Amino acid sequence: MLIPLILSGGSGTRLWPVSRRNLPKQFLSLTGRGTLFQQAVVRTQLLPDVVSPIVIASEDQRFLAAEQLLETSVQDAVIILEPMARNTAPAIALGALQAIERDPEALLLVLPADHLIGDADSFAKGVNLALPAAREGWLVTFGIRPDRPETGFGYIKRAESIGEHTFRVDRFVEKPALATAESYLAEGSYDWNSGMFLFKAARYIEELGQHAPGMLEAVRQAFASARADLDFVRVDAEAFAKVPDSSIDYAIMEKTTRAAVVPVSCDWSDIGSWTALWLAGAKDEHGNHREGDTIAINTRNSLICSHERHLVATVGVEDLLVVTTPDATLVAHRDAAQDVKKVVDQLKAAD
Ligand code: GDD
Ligand code: MG
Repeated sequence: MLIPLILSGGSGTRLWPVSRRNLPKQFLSLTGRGTLFQQAVVRTQLLPDVVSPIVIASEDQRFLAAEQLLETSVQDAVIILEPMARNTAPAIALGALQAIERDPEALLLVLPADHLIGDADSFAKGVNLALPAAREGWLVTFGIRPDRPETGFGYIKRAESIGEHTFRVDRFVEKPALATAESYLAEGSYDWNSGMFLFKAARYIEELGQHAPGMLEAVRQAFASARADLDFVRVDAEAFAKVPDSSIDYAIMEKTTRAAVVPVSCDWSDIGSWTALWLAGAKDEHGNHREGDTIAINTRNSLICSHERHLVATVGVEDLLVVTTPDATLVAHRDAAQDVKKVVDQLKAAD
């Protein structure tokens, strides 16, 4: 049995001011074909032997997740609610424990809810190729050929082949510094980690027990105290508060000796920042990605998004990100897109 696990608890702070605490980016229709979350859910239905997904979301977003699921063709999803964010390693552990209850042999396909995948058939082909290694107990990642020294991603160095289009991972490095990322790009044997994973749910729990036993124990207790409530599985706040915060990348992937990679080319993009959206989006003849009411004179290689009939005009500028909403406007250099989250940090501090 293949169970998709949709991670949708992120807060999307780098896409402020459009992505907000009450409406983070995965629940936005940034590209028009349903929200990113809905696209992630629907995409899983192309896979073999697949059952309805487990969704892990924040307690605050329970109605968004439930309503958006109802608008898709996928019914009977289990929605696990986290009372607070503890990053991806504990979220996946909750999903794995739930999956094991359904089927002790279950394979878990971990999918972030905030990615764009242009070619769903190639994605499904990649998952099919990854199945044998996952059944043998490998933790399989999906690798993307890098075209820039991005510091917002994990990097995977390929080792020898262990099956059709499947390689052992020599090393996994989460979010390296720029100079390191540049050397990986020049070296040629590194792929980006797409943030999607395939493994047996039980193997993930085993690895967590080995590399983060305290986290596993705390998650087990939180899962044991979870209760079913209508469509939701609610995790107890007091128990979950004791769970340490860490991502799967730092807690497991950098440490395991059983990581494998299947390279995929499925027109993948992580809409992690406005610059990522600019890279992925359609552009005019001057390299500008424009949405809404805009006038761009002598403007190059910029992203200009106007929401709610607010005219934005730019003159004689380049490499800018300009995003307006009714109550906030962002103006940033294209190279500073990762720092937009600092605006949100400052807003939180002032709260
Ligand atoms: N349920 C839940 N709870 N989901 C979460 C939480 C949480 O506490 N934190 C993050 N997520 C979700 C996000 O919504 C997103 O869908 C996914 O988990 C990954 O988290 P991000 O915060 O977006 O991670 P990242 O982009 O910085 O890095 C990861 O993805 C990159 C590719 O996009 C890493 O896996 C990198 O190695 C990878 O390259
Ligand atoms: Mg991300």
